[in-house]
Amino acid sequence: MRTGIVHIGAEELTYEIRNIIGVADKLRELGVPVYLENIGDPVSKGEKIPAWMKEIVARLVMENDCYGYCPTQGLLETREFLVALNNGNGNGHCRITLEDIIFFNGLGDAITKVYGFLRRTARVITPSPTYTTHSSSEAAHAGLPPVCYPLDPHNHWFPDIDELRRRVKYNPAVAGILLINPDNPTGAVYPESLLREIVNIAREFDLFIIADEIYQNLVFNGRKTQPLAALVGDVPAISMKGISKELPWPGSRCGWIEVYNARRDSQFESYIQSILNAKMVEVCSTTLPQKALPRILQHPEYPAHLENRRLRYEKFSQIAYDRLKDIPGVLVNRTNGAFYMSVAFEEGCLNKQQTLSISNRSVREMVKELTAAADINPDKRFVYYLLASTGICVVPLTSFSTNLQGFRLTLLEPDEKRFRGMIDTLGQGIEDYISSCHP
Ligand SMILES: Cc1ncc(COP(=O)(O)O)c(C=O)c1O
Repeated sequence: MRTGIVHIGAEELTYEIRNIIGVADKLRELGVPVYLENIGDPVSKGEKIPAWMKEIVARLVMENDCYGYCPTQGLLETREFLVALNNGNGNGHCRITLEDIIFFNGLGDAITKVYGFLRRTARVITPSPTYTTHSSSEAAHAGLPPVCYPLDPHNHWFPDIDELRRRVKYNPAVAGILLINPDNPTGAVYPESLLREIVNIAREFDLFIIADEIYQNLVFNGRKTQPLAALVGDVPAISMKGISKELPWPGSRCGWIEVYNARRDSQFESYIQSILNAKMVEVCSTTLPQKALPRILQHPEYPAHLENRRLRYEKFSQIAYDRLKDIPGVLVNRTNGAFYMSVAFEEGCLNKQQTLSISNRSVREMVKELTAAADINPDKRFVYYLLASTGICVVPLTSFSTNLQGFRLTLLEPDEKRFRGMIDTLGQGIEDYISSCHP
């Protein structure tokens, strides 16, 4: 090319959660039955959408105006519903207006715009490990690797608050803090005290907060947390919400942001305006799911539907925890929210001689080739062997913006017998791999 055409952040855009499917597909062609545990899509894992929900959508499909554009910020009636939902939540809750909501084509769209329209030199410190759409988009906007704070597998995967404070203090480029609660990929649910500490750091250093709360109503095992709106006080913040996980309806591509204290800081106000302008240039987001949203959330069967899903994830979180927690060499925390579990290997537990038995010769050759690179991450090597040997497709933890070795699985399999079988095979796979060649 006459002039460089590659964006400075291009190398930061990776999404191993979907990349690994390419490998799984090849193994399938070679006859390995594959058990996908990589993507957080309850529908593709077999979750049945209730008939009443489909009926709501079916009725809307017959309405003409569902086929038109909607206002850039989102349908007025839906924003009115969400404002009332937020403002009806008690005294301490940060109040919002219709202007404080912007709809997007899924939170994926919101995430790329929220980082994409931040000044290039301003950084948002992201958790590590974290959901890569955040860390990759943030890093791509800056053209530099992500700026991170650690989540601690020895302490329920909670953020190391002292370290967060230190990293904020000594990096003046940090303008914002990202938190994800409940968390992907760890399944952690943050107690109120911890959220307050993060808000205090933001207030002290004059930062804004981005809180990804897409899993806010998927909390179980008796855990309690608070939405950011309840604690944010006067700190400028963006809460991200959506229907992909909760209804679940990821194919709707529908999510939104709620902005707190938008007018307390002129720079923050202009930044939010630029995000809205970016959406306006694009016209608007999907109309039909916005129409459906209040009807679904207000349906008399909705609370029971949600509760049943929570109870199932709760049960499966315990099955997974009980099977994996005593395996020597791994750090396991029970999932208390969302539907992911991250298992970390203790330092030095993995090496490049370990293997799992693979009966099919072509598969064995393929895995040898895939794992031949000298610089392959040890957890990615484990994940390939596990996939080839057992068909279970998990995601290496190092692909979630961390140096910690491990992997993420989901609790989404709806069939308990199959889930128990998968977790048993997984547990056995970890044990066999570690013991195949002791470090
Ligand atoms: C924490 C988090 N935020 C956002 C998203 C993206 O959601 P959406 O389907 O609305 O793009 C996901 C999807 O896995 C997620 O885990």
